[in-house]
Amino acid sequence: MRRIIEGRSSIAVAKGVFYNPKMSKLRDVSVMFLKAVKPKNARLLDATAATGVRGIRYRVEAGIKDITMLDINASAYRNAKANAKTNRVKAKIIGKSLQEFAGSSHEAFDVIDLDPFGSPAPLVHDALKLSKDGTLLMITATDTATLCGAEGSACLRIYGSQPIHNELCHEGGVRILLNFIAREAAQFNFGVEPLLSIADMHYMRVFVALRRGASRAAESVKASGPVAYCSRCHNFTCKQGMTAQISSKCGYCGATMRLFGPMWLGNLKNSNFVSKMAGISGKYGEKTAAFLHALDAELDLPFFYSIPKITSYLRSSSVPMNIVIAKIANKSAVSRTHFEKDSIKTDAGINEVIAATKFVSKNV
Ligand SMILES: C[S@@+](CC[C@H](N)C(=O)[O-])C[C@H]1O[C@@H](n2cnc3c(N)ncnc32)[C@H](O)[C@@H]1O
Ligand SMILES: [Zn+2]
Repeated sequence: MRRIIEGRSSIAVAKGVFYNPKMSKLRDVSVMFLKAVKPKNARLLDATAATGVRGIRYRVEAGIKDITMLDINASAYRNAKANAKTNRVKAKIIGKSLQEFAGSSHEAFDVIDLDPFGSPAPLVHDALKLSKDGTLLMITATDTATLCGAEGSACLRIYGSQPIHNELCHEGGVRILLNFIAREAAQFNFGVEPLLSIADMHYMRVFVALRRGASRAAESVKASGPVAYCSRCHNFTCKQGMTAQISSKCGYCGATMRLFGPMWLGNLKNSNFVSKMAGISGKYGEKTAAFLHALDAELDLPFFYSIPKITSYLRSSSVPMNIVIAKIANKSAVSRTHFEKDSIKTDAGINEVIAATKFVSKNV
């Protein structure tokens, strides 16, 4: 049996039980999230526990005292039980599926972690059955081919949205996942407040607070809407509202834009929490800390402009990103984005972005 150390926990990985060392960064982020939010007397459900590494780390590092772990797989159940014992973590460990547990339990949890294989969509409804006002959902999706548009019809079937298959696809996927969660939550009279949303490597992860109330639920559903994208000049527009209309004629170059969505067009994060997380990220290694600081610095606006795509539209040579950013920053808010390299989020329109790129390409 393999044994690894992650955070302050020692985890044995039994044969046939899932453990991906590459996801330790994401587990670090989840520990930091719980440390930043500090849910008091929280009851936490790790619904897809595998080795139990998450539940154990949430107890040991984030101080969550009341932990329940589930896994449908009998080897995983035994493995999580043994790991909890080795790490002296008292936890309820149950060898049941989330669906079976949600069908028979009348408990409500303060924090629920969903980290399944592939799409979390089939599990969200059952997680909501175990939720209450203020519950924090931490949800991973690794079906990025679906959410990023490589398998467009699967995305329509599973998430009810048309995905974008271009440079906007990672942010688009996160917004499709949030739209899906908001619609599911609305059936239980919950609105959603995303506290942090990430796309990295082959996964997406969203951290969402549930807010009880029929009008909040309706507002959350109305926070989604269509997105239009111009594949000639790389302009985009979007508008909140389930029946929102947007023009399919590009306001910059006049080409016909393609329509995508619906996607969540509200906030992707709560800046207070993300700043707190960045503040404590130092002890999780340089790379993770840099990632958290980038998330903290990122403007919370829908979508971005890829500067290499803009220079290729302009048929100009590549330009130094920092100078384009400095030029736009004279007039407008601007930041990089973790969703795509060499890309910027800004409240400036495409006219200003193209003017700044042209200026830098001619003068630098
Ligand atoms: C990707 S692994 C979880 C990895 C773990 N959270 C970690 O960070 O190492 C997914 C786990 O979910 C379990 N699983 C799949 N469907 C489930 C269900 N419906 N209810 C509970 N567990 C389930 C699988 O047996 C598997 O152990
Ligand atoms: Zn255009």
